Amino acid sequence: MDTDAIKGLGTAEKDQLRFITCGSVDDGKSTLIGRLLHDSKMIYEDQMQALARDSVKHGTTGNDIDFALLVDGLEAEREQGITIDVAYRFFNTPRRSFMVADTPGHEQYTRNMATGASNAQLAVILIDARKGVLVQTKRHSFICSLLGIRHVVVAVNKIDLVDYRKEVFDRIVGDYVAFASTLGFTSIVPIPMSARYGDNIINRSGNTDWYHGPCLMDYLESIDIESEMQGLPFRFPVQWVNRPNLDFRGYAGTVASGHIAVGDEIVVAASGRNSRVKRIATYDGDLAQAEAGDAVTITLADEIDIGRGDILARPTERPEVADQFAAHLIWMDQEAMVPGRSYAFRIGTQSIATGSVTHIKHKIDVNTREHLAATTLGLNEIGFCNVATALPVSFDAYEVNRRTGSFIMIDRYTNRTVGAGLITFPLRRATNIAWQPLSVGKAERAELKHQKPCILWFTGLSGAGKSTIANIVDQKLFAMSRHTMLLDGDNVRHGLNRDLGFTEADRVENIRRVGEVAKLIMDAGLIAICSFISPYRAERDMVRGLVEEGEFIEVFVDTPIEECVRRDPKGLYSKAKSGKIKNFTGIDAPYEAPTGPEIHLKTIAQQPAQLADDVVKALIERGVIAAI
Ligand code: ADX
Repeated sequence: MDTDAIKGLGTAEKDQLRFITCGSVDDGKSTLIGRLLHDSKMIYEDQMQALARDSVKHGTTGNDIDFALLVDGLEAEREQGITIDVAYRFFNTPRRSFMVADTPGHEQYTRNMATGASNAQLAVILIDARKGVLVQTKRHSFICSLLGIRHVVVAVNKIDLVDYRKEVFDRIVGDYVAFASTLGFTSIVPIPMSARYGDNIINRSGNTDWYHGPCLMDYLESIDIESEMQGLPFRFPVQWVNRPNLDFRGYAGTVASGHIAVGDEIVVAASGRNSRVKRIATYDGDLAQAEAGDAVTITLADEIDIGRGDILARPTERPEVADQFAAHLIWMDQEAMVPGRSYAFRIGTQSIATGSVTHIKHKIDVNTREHLAATTLGLNEIGFCNVATALPVSFDAYEVNRRTGSFIMIDRYTNRTVGAGLITFPLRRATNIAWQPLSVGKAERAELKHQKPCILWFTGLSGAGKSTIANIVDQKLFAMSRHTMLLDGDNVRHGLNRDLGFTEADRVENIRRVGEVAKLIMDAGLIAICSFISPYRAERDMVRGLVEEGEFIEVFVDTPIEECVRRDPKGLYSKAKSGKIKNFTGIDAPYEAPTGPEIHLKTIAQQPAQLADDVVKALIERGVIAAI
């Protein structure tokens, strides 16, 4: 689910039906969409000619026109015979306009399917009449259900290939209904069809006189999708604050759900501040009221503090506000999601700079819906997770409101959308806990010690010399009557972190805990010296983000891997090379070198004592300690 898909929710034309087709190439999905477009007269003459040409070249239907070619637009896809990515197509009939999301059916494209489904009100699930309900049918149905689709058309396609037999259709429908009973669909409408020959697509087929239900187009044109967003509580995520002059302060955005009228009372979800709607402005003049899908600017009777990302609601129907919640997470990135790692979040119009998954309760096998244990989530995997954000966010459960209950996760370095989440419920963990003000703070403690507390963070490969240099720095500072505390990877792993190993997930958790401890040590007015491989940039930056600007000093102990292997002080490299230790940094686990460390120590041909002196000098230069 990308942001565009999220934006699209509730904002589309009101009489538009948004649906998704699920199935694989073999099920005839592209042929079906092509047929819908063709028969609803959306194809123009020139396209028809091109299509006839292409059908001869690539088609799989002899000299007939291959409708799939109309849909599988990209040359590359045609040649591979598969559809990749999500394509949105629009078409109209006199009765309705349609937006159809066409996504690939293969398991490795779960993320694409989820993206298409997040925006759809109905799913057409294709089943090949010869094959019946398959694992992939179950996967598609589960993802549709998870993404909030409540209406399903079971398109039993290629009915011509089973001689239009009623028994085949009935058996498939029976199988499907039995399996889907726990998926929470409001309606399931099975239709026997042949996309290739047009049976029961636009016109009722003479070949299935035993079938008395609607044909597909008729059904799509007439289904009454309850105006879901209308019946829901009023939600207005503020997109931006419009303040052209001192006399006007308006909140611009699109009504995500429900309706509001001039004079109605509202509350700002996060702050709980109340006011009343004074005006509802649009480009075409003021409105008396606004409803789901309307893009408006709201002004209020009182001057209260409201910014981008705030949600306006009715005081009696305030959204949830929490900094921790449980959610289904669909992972969309090659690089696995690791609990504890921080990502940026976007929830509606709210942007949260940092947040993380604190725990994966389980991962879900998309084919069987089985719950599996997991420590990370890979590409296309779905997990049920606890999430924590740096600041409280306002939201609804996704099941209740797709627009205000979904979020995306963004990689902080690449800006890629890496995950999409569906919120299930808030976690009340820290809600009843307030920050206890303490009278003696970091500043007072530091003053007593005549130093500026900081985190002096040594990173580098195993055997690079981190611990040796950190230890000498500690001695030197001690000799200068400075107050320090040294945390060393090997030592911390004997106590606080004895439960952790060296997988990526464990290393992330190792550094997360150490970061919190280092911060406490700093709060005690001390210089926290930390010596950890800390191979991932993301976690070093996470610790940096825990403290104020200038308080985190990264020391890169830069020793080439060949030199570390040569020194091999603990004999670990030779064990790692012979396969006796797995996930060894620099051998079969990565090390991401700092790009802009505060202090860069190149150790080749240097003595540790000299390098330690360099560090102490740097601390004096930075004003952490005074020279003596
Ligand atoms: S970190 O990667 O999570 O930051 P940490 O600094 O705590 O690692 O611990 C590293 C120390 O653990 C190394 O100095 C080494 O003595 C030991 N060790 C044992 N197994 C491994 C391994 N697979 N990779 C790296 N270090 C290991």
